[in-house]
Amino acid sequence: MKSNVVQGLEPTLPSSWYLQDKYFALEREHIFLREWICVGREEELPLPGDHKVLDVYGESILLLRNDRSELKAFYNVCRHRGSRICPAVDEDSVLAFKGGVVNKKFIVCPYHAWTYDLDGQLVRAPFMSNVTNFNMDDVKLHPVGVASWGGFIFLNLTPDEAPLFDETVSGAAALFARYPLAELRIARTISYEIDANWKVLCENYNECYHCGPVHPGLCRIVPAFREAGGSDLDWERGIPHREGATTFTMSGESSRRSFPDLNEDELVRHKGDLLYPNLFLSLAREHVAAFILHARGPDKTLLDCHFLFEPYEMEKADFDSSDVVDFWHLVNQQDWAICKRVQQGMGARVHERGVYAPMEDWNLDIRRYVHDRIGHHSRDSEHED
Ligand SMILES: [Fe+2]
Repeated sequence: MKSNVVQGLEPTLPSSWYLQDKYFALEREHIFLREWICVGREEELPLPGDHKVLDVYGESILLLRNDRSELKAFYNVCRHRGSRICPAVDEDSVLAFKGGVVNKKFIVCPYHAWTYDLDGQLVRAPFMSNVTNFNMDDVKLHPVGVASWGGFIFLNLTPDEAPLFDETVSGAAALFARYPLAELRIARTISYEIDANWKVLCENYNECYHCGPVHPGLCRIVPAFREAGGSDLDWERGIPHREGATTFTMSGESSRRSFPDLNEDELVRHKGDLLYPNLFLSLAREHVAAFILHARGPDKTLLDCHFLFEPYEMEKADFDSSDVVDFWHLVNQQDWAICKRVQQGMGARVHERGVYAPMEDWNLDIRRYVHDRIGHHSRDSEHED
């Protein structure tokens, strides 16, 4: 352990925390199943009765919009005998009735046809009306916490012990108050499968020290990323572009209008933030790139990258998002390739942990965030402080 200490620099978490199943299992239990995690955009369920079946860290979750247009989420399991109620999207089955949301009004279990309303309340259980002491009002689907901010949907799978939702989003809400996030719509989505631990992706998003070597194109738009290793960047005010550039496109410009309420800085600068544990936001004056992470294992992360624009622009006949998408796709591919190299390298038998350079100091936050939640559950925790 001592050999991996570098005098004067903060240590990272141990490499084992990025590599081993047992740490991923702890993160699943104490982070992803307990914190508010982003699962998508409200526009994906626009109407009452719309629903999705999600695999959330191995739990099947039914997310829907009820008749009052409120988002609701439940564990996808019948309170009777535990049958999965709604089939997964790609499920192939011989069942005559596969179960699920019927007529956009009821959630019906395929096994004995127990039927719930869109608030998860049992409303019909065949041939049970005369059962003594059985009261349907007592039976509800197991709830999942749902909240939304800026058009993003968040779930909490342990709603009785959920942290305050406001604490998850308040920092970003203040920083991005003038951006019309809730009104934006998805123009394109690119989904990536990345052979790297989710924390490697967070740490990479959190620092611009790597931008000089990894992102020459990005640095032509934002020279500040390569100056002094990206230190002293003022993310609260926004990051300045080069002279004549105002947004993240190949040219650094765009004919799309700026979001109407931005301040003078925001019209010419770029903002970003990471909402732990799984939403990265990157905001330009006329588009937003939103990255939603789904950690699938210690060395596997799925990531949906949504490109969001104003409906005002998207409704134009000549709307074309490719200047943004092409730019980001290149930056993204560079990031995922370097993150994969980190994942490969940290498995070296001599690499017990890395260190952070001072300009990567935001990564001390993620070290703390993860350590606070799984450190005391880890048998090795006494060695990690
Ligand atoms: Fe990067």
